[in-house]
Amino acid sequence: MTAVSAPARPRDFVDLRDWGAEAALELTQLALQLKRRPLRSRPLEGRSVGLCFMNPSLRTQASFQVAASSLGAHPVTLHFGNGTWNMEWREGAVMDGAASEHLKESVAVLARYCDLLALRAFPAGTVWAEDKAEPWLSAFRRASTVPVVSLESAMGHPCQGLADLMTLQEKAAGAGRKFVLAWAPHIKALPLAVPHSAAQAAVIAGMDLTICRPAGYDLDPEVMSWCRAEAARQGRTVTVTDDQASAFEGAGVVYAKSWGSLESYGTPPPQDGAFRDQWRIGAAKMARTDSAVLMHCLPVRRNLVVDDAVLDSPASVVIDQAENRLHTAKALLLTLLGGRQ
Ligand code: CP
Repeated sequence: MTAVSAPARPRDFVDLRDWGAEAALELTQLALQLKRRPLRSRPLEGRSVGLCFMNPSLRTQASFQVAASSLGAHPVTLHFGNGTWNMEWREGAVMDGAASEHLKESVAVLARYCDLLALRAFPAGTVWAEDKAEPWLSAFRRASTVPVVSLESAMGHPCQGLADLMTLQEKAAGAGRKFVLAWAPHIKALPLAVPHSAAQAAVIAGMDLTICRPAGYDLDPEVMSWCRAEAARQGRTVTVTDDQASAFEGAGVVYAKSWGSLESYGTPPPQDGAFRDQWRIGAAKMARTDSAVLMHCLPVRRNLVVDDAVLDSPASVVIDQAENRLHTAKALLLTLLGGRQ
């Protein structure tokens, strides 16, 4: 009989869709196990991980540093252009501007020092097609000879998505199977990475996904196609609506998040008070749900995105959700670096 081998896992972890639902669930199972019974051993002793940031971070930076250290690996954290040289990614660039170093050298060098490299590179926010091509992450991956983890790019925040999936497994069992990704106001046109990964996490978790957003604020069509296919595979539904009353009705999870419009890419959402009041997540909306838990990736602007009354209520699981960044980072490092016990 011919042996059937499992499909090869991608070298890099840059999008939940590349790894698929089964692999994501294996990672969160390991994370749940590590949370229940933290390892006493240091299986990654002698290894190093390079954490490269082009944008600010609190949770991603701290959780990966602590995860690496507690597993025995040494974290090297670099903020490109702030204590390192400014970087260039473009092929054939004449480097007579601010950038002193090309990713071709910097990433190749870091890969000689580190066993895994990670990059946070937010989108530029001008032309969606250009951002969607992920120029920084793509160039970084090409230059790396070791596994690469995305710490958030234009299309996704897969590490946040893993923590979201783990949080759903912990908090949403018995709380209802309706997951509402609820658009909320903001002063800026924020990236779509977190809503993309949160939607993917919801369908991987086997929930019915409702995206409640103003007209013009749809997610990327490729992400929606993937979510619809995965939901259908699990016999679940995906609904997109601007009817907040029906969206919140019976929800077990409300995931509050703001994101920019792909139709007017880079343009901040309307700032008038009535629009903000209509879309902000407050107690009245939560009262329509089936005692839903409130999720948000953080940082959150209080009383602009979500009201104090909700964030400070027992419904909020945002701190647990952020804690799960640590456990999922450990699971990911162990899986990618082969230190799984
Ligand atoms: N949720 C998240 O990625 O947080 P930071 O931007 O602080 O890393």
